[in-house]
Amino acid sequence: GKYRVVSTKSMPGTRWIRLLTDQDCRVEVCTEKKTILSVEDILALIGEKCDGVIGQLTEDWGEVLFSALKRAGGTAFSNMAVGYNNVDVDAATKYGVAVGNTPGVLTETTAELAASLSLAAARRIVEADEFMRAGLYDGWLPHLFVGNLLKGQTVGVIGAGRIGSTYARMMIEGFKMNLIYYDLYQATRLENFVTAYGQFLQANGEQPVTWKRAATMEDVLRAADVISLHPILDKTTYHLINKERLSIMKKDAILVNCSRGPVVDEAALVEHLKVNPMFRVGLDVFEDEPYMKPGLAELKNAIVVPHIASASKWTREGMATLAALNVLGKIKGYPVWADPNRVEPFLDENSPPPA
Ligand code: GLV
Ligand code: GLV
Repeated sequence: GKYRVVSTKSMPGTRWIRLLTDQDCRVEVCTEKKTILSVEDILALIGEKCDGVIGQLTEDWGEVLFSALKRAGGTAFSNMAVGYNNVDVDAATKYGVAVGNTPGVLTETTAELAASLSLAAARRIVEADEFMRAGLYDGWLPHLFVGNLLKGQTVGVIGAGRIGSTYARMMIEGFKMNLIYYDLYQATRLENFVTAYGQFLQANGEQPVTWKRAATMEDVLRAADVISLHPILDKTTYHLINKERLSIMKKDAILVNCSRGPVVDEAALVEHLKVNPMFRVGLDVFEDEPYMKPGLAELKNAIVVPHIASASKWTREGMATLAALNVLGKIKGYPVWADPNRVEPFLDENSPPPA
C-alpha cells in the first residue's frame, strides 16, 4: 500500500478494511488492550508516516495529535461516531487535516435505544427483572410495579435533528403520544408527519395526536411526560439539564439521554432522583465516562447502560465503512473534500468508493 491508514480500534466487519486495501492503503489496527487510548498512545500509532486515522469518541483529538498527524504527512481524520465533541475541528483545520464523522447510519439504531429506555423506564422493566431474579415474586398484586401509560401522554424532544425526529416519530406512531419539541430549526417533516398521522387517527375514530414547537426549552420540560435529549454537545448545551430545569419537570416525568453525558448535570440529577422517587431516567451516556456520579448506581429509578445507542451490527459496520470512506476520500482527492473541513461524510453507505 502506498498510503498508511491507522485505526485506533478494531472495528466491526471487514468491508471497511477491504475498501481501503483495494485503494492502495495499508491498514494498521491498534492492538492495545486497554479501552481508552491516551494522546501518547496515539502519537506512537501515528509514528513517522501516516496518511489518515480513524479514531474513537473516547480520544482527545486536539492540537497535539493533529500537529503530529500533519508532521507524518496525514491529511484525513474520521471519528467513528456522529458526535465530534472530542475533536477540535479548529486545530484540525490549522494543520490541514480534514475531519469526518458518521451520521445517518446510526439514526434508527440510536432512536430505537432511546425508545427502549423510554419504555423500560415507563414500565420499570429493569427493577422488575431484578425483583424477579432476587426471588421476591410471591404472586400477582394490584400494586406490583405500576408504571406509566404512554398513550395520550406527551413526548418532549430537545433537539429534533435526525435522531431526535426519528425517536419522536417512533413514540408518536408506536404509542400515540403527542409531541412537543424544542430546536433552533423547525422540524417541518416531523410536524407534517404528526399532522398527517393525527388526521389518520381521527378518520378512524381515534383521538388525534398533536404537535407543538415550543418557544423555550422550559415549555417542553414543563409539559412533557417523557423527555429525550438529542442535542449536540458544545459550550451552549453543557449542563443544559441542571437543577433548576429538573425542578420544573413533572414529578413523575421520564428523562432519557442518548446524546452526551455532559448535557446533563449528573450530580444534580442524582439529587433530583433521590428526592423524587417517581421521576425516572434512562441513561446511555455519563458525564465522566466510564464513571457514574456517586449514588447513581444505587437508585432504583435510574436505568443505566454503557453508551450502546449505536450498537447494532448493521450500524456499527456502517459507521466503520463511513469512517473508512471519509479517510479514503480525502487521501484520494474525492471532490467533496474541496471543502476539507466539513464534518460530514462525503459518501453514504451505498455510494461507490472513489475511483
Ligand atoms: C456515539 O455516541 C456517536 O456519536 O456516534
Ligand atoms: C445526528 O445524527 C442528529 O442530527 O440527530
